[in-house]
Formats: sequence, structure tokens, C-alpha cells
Amino acid sequence: MSIKKIGIGIVGLGTVGSGLIEIIQKNNNSYKSKYNLDFSINGISAKNKKKKRNINIKNYKWFNDPIKMTEFSDIDIIVELVGGSDGLALKLAEKSLINGKYFVTANKALIAKHGIKILDLSIKYNSKFSFEAAVGGGIPIIRLMQNSMIVGKIKSVYGILNGTCNYILTKMRENNLQFNNALKKAQQLGFAEANPEDDINGVDTAYKLAILSNLAFGITTKVSEIFTEGISKIEEIDIKMAEKLGYKIVLLGISNLKNNKVMQRVHPSLVSNNSMISKVNNELNTIIIDDEIADKIMVVGKGAGKKPTSASVMADILNINDENKKKFFVSKSKKANNLSSQDISKREGKFYIRMGVDDKPGVLADITLFFKKQKISIKSMFQLDDKVKNIVPLIFVTHKVTEKKISLVLKKMDALKKIKTKIVLLRIEEL
Ligand SMILES: NC(=O)c1ccc[n+]([C@@H]2O[C@H](COP(=O)([O-])OP(=O)(O)OC[C@H]3O[C@@H](n4cnc5c(N)ncnc54)[C@H](OP(=O)(O)O)[C@@H]3O)[C@@H](O)[C@H]2O)c1
Repeated sequence: MSIKKIGIGIVGLGTVGSGLIEIIQKNNNSYKSKYNLDFSINGISAKNKKKKRNINIKNYKWFNDPIKMTEFSDIDIIVELVGGSDGLALKLAEKSLINGKYFVTANKALIAKHGIKILDLSIKYNSKFSFEAAVGGGIPIIRLMQNSMIVGKIKSVYGILNGTCNYILTKMRENNLQFNNALKKAQQLGFAEANPEDDINGVDTAYKLAILSNLAFGITTKVSEIFTEGISKIEEIDIKMAEKLGYKIVLLGISNLKNNKVMQRVHPSLVSNNSMISKVNNELNTIIIDDEIADKIMVVGKGAGKKPTSASVMADILNINDENKKKFFVSKSKKANNLSSQDISKREGKFYIRMGVDDKPGVLADITLFFKKQKISIKSMFQLDDKVKNIVPLIFVTHKVTEKKISLVLKKMDALKKIKTKIVLLRIEEL
């Protein structure tokens, strides 16, 4: 069998882009003999040509305008490793597909926002696109969902989708660190970006969840419509109390199907110490797919980082000839498959509630009266000794109750002058 020559254009030479170049430089000979594919990097581009880089790029053709790569006949595959949901990334996707190039990206923001548009273009122009690294970094979750989880009906897909948050929560638990110190440590080790906003506030997880929901249920959702809460409200006291109660706190993205409705949510969650998910620590990610026939499938791996992420990008490139690949996305509107979105108010589950109150007689009775009035049954209650400025932490764990009911009662409680701190509400997930 003859060896097929394939030209690659790489836009973005940062963490992932430089990792990809290293992989190609190191492994191309073995790809030739194993897969009969001979890759050559026929174009590169980044923001600053003069920037000092830790890879040798002087033998590659530099494009000041990366869009010009999409018109270059020696390039078959355009790899976008810049980031951002619009701008250059979107333009590259459109131009690549229109010009018949295979488009590969690691960009979750782009795919979560414009995945369907890009899919439609790829169908119209008979070209292809892949985005394995956009969810779960080094975990081959997209291919697993496209090619294997296609037999039965998926009931839910959920997991720890952000390594930065998982690392921070692990260090708060293991090393008794406060949130800010754990974040600093994550930044020092390169797990968190200089601006970690999207990680910490859950938006990064919401991007990935939107993509997984589309693959699992064929629905398209605006990321801004996904209920999203981050981890910055978690304090040492919550980590310790969770442990005492037999739980760990993790940031989860959860998408599940019930009665033809899909509920998507991102929030810190208490998961049992006995659950598999609670064993996934540090910067690791995990995704669990609950399928009506196959049952639960769990994958674990590094969700970010130069080597794992660029390995996923390379896997996309190596699959260029895989013509049997199932559709990446289900390009159906919500109505076409009879599914609609369900908001979080319908969630029913247990809750962990923390508040700081005046250390005075009668306060506890006042607060429990609020729960009683709404018929919310309390499973356990703790009044902790660590008083600060006469404010005592109170913790309640409820029995199962709807989100609607609990939000109503907390709204009313918020007005109570005896409650001196913000009320922290965490959800307990029985997964
Ligand atoms: N890092 C990870 O672990 C990881 C994991 C999963 C997915 N991803 C995704 O992979 C993509 C790349 O991430 P990264 O971490 O490699 O980013 P990065 O290290 O910040 O690198 C970004 C690259 O894009 C280039 N760039 C920025 N603006 C540009 C412009 N206007 N024109 C041309 N080039 C431009 C930069 O050029 P200069 O070098 O000249 O500044 C840089 O080389 C993102 O979509 C990210 O979400 C990353």
C-alpha cells in the first residue's frame, strides 16, 4: 500500500500547538510504517512571529494571515489551537471547510457555540471536522460517544470536567488549604491559567457539558442557559463537614434525560466517599455515561496539559481516513427529536446548607421554623464551635426536596437579620 502524504497547517503555537509539533516531529516515521500516512507541517501561524518558543519552527512556512492557509493547496488539514468562541477560530473553521480542508480543533468554546453551524458547513462542502480534545483533554470521550455509545438510549452523562477545580478541591481537602491558596498552587504548577475565571466559575465545565449533551441527546443549548455555579464559595469548613458526613465535594457537570426533558447543570456537589467519582482526584477528569443497555461506562484521565491534549489532537489527525465515523453532532433542532430543556427547579435531591448566625438563644428555633413551614424535613443539623465574632456556623442536611422549595425558603431566610453570612447551598448527588 502506498504512503499517503498529508500536509498540516497549525494555527496557534502555545501549549497545545507546541505539543502537537513535538508529537509530529517525534512520531512521523512510526506513523508512516504503522498507518501509511506521512505528515508534514506545511504552514504555521501564531500571534507573534518573533516570540521565543521552546520548539524549533524555523523550517516551517510562517503565515502572517492564518486564513491564507485555507487556500494553500499543500495543506489538507487545518488545526486551530488559538481558542475563543468567535473571531479567528470561527473564521478558520468556516474557511477551512468551505475550501475542502479537514478542520481539527481543541476549542470547546467554539464547538459549544457554533458546533452545529460548523457541522452543517462540513456536510454542505463534503469536508470534515473533529474536536476530540475539546472535552476531557486527553480522554477520548468524543470518539467513544460517536462510535461506541450508539447502541441504546443514553440516560445521563456527567462528570468532573475541569482539572483546575478538581485540583483546588483536592488540595483544600488533603492539605487543609483555603480556596485562594489552593488556586495559587494550581497556578504555580500550571494547572490553572493566569486568568482562571472560566474554570472557577464553572463556565468551562458548561461548555463541555453542552457538547456532551448534544452528543448524548441531540439537543443544542446556549451555554448561558445552563445553570452554572462555580467553586469559589466553598470554604474549608464545607470540605471538613462534607468529609464528616461521608462525602467529598467535586464540581460536576450533569446532563440527564427524564420524560423527554433534558436537565443540564453545573455546580459543586457532595458525592459519597464510596462512589467511583469520589476517587478521581487532583487534575484528573472523569466522564460517566449511563446507557440503558450498556449501563454505566466511566472514563478517567488528564483533562488538560500539553501532552494529553496534543495527543487527542493528533488522534483526530490520524483518523482523517476514518470514513465510517458516525456524525459528531446531531444536527437536529430540539423539536425534531421531541426533547426539550428542563430547568433546575424540578431537581429533587438532598441539600447541604451552611449559614453563620448570631450566637443567641432562640435563633435556631427561628430558622428551623422556616423549614417546618415549607414542610422541608431536616436529616441532620450541626452547630459548630468555631465561633468568629459571635457568629456561629450552622449546617443543615435535608432529606429529599425540590430545588424550587429550597430556593423559596432560602430566599425568605436571607431577609432574617439573625443570619449574618451568605447562605451556602450545596447539592448532594446520589450517583
Ligand atoms: N492547554 C490545555 O491543556 C488545553 C486543554 C484542552 C483544550 N485546550 C484548548 O486548546 C486551544 C489552545 O489552548 P492553549 O492552552 O494551547 O493556548 P495558549 O497556550 O494560550 O496558545 C494560544 C496560541 O494562539 C496564538 N494566538 C492567539 N491569538 C492569535 C491570533 N489572533 N492569531 C494567531 N494566533 C493567535 C498564540 O500566539 P503567540 O504564541 O504568538 O502568543 C498562541 O500561540 C484552546 O481552544 C483551549 O481551550 C487547551
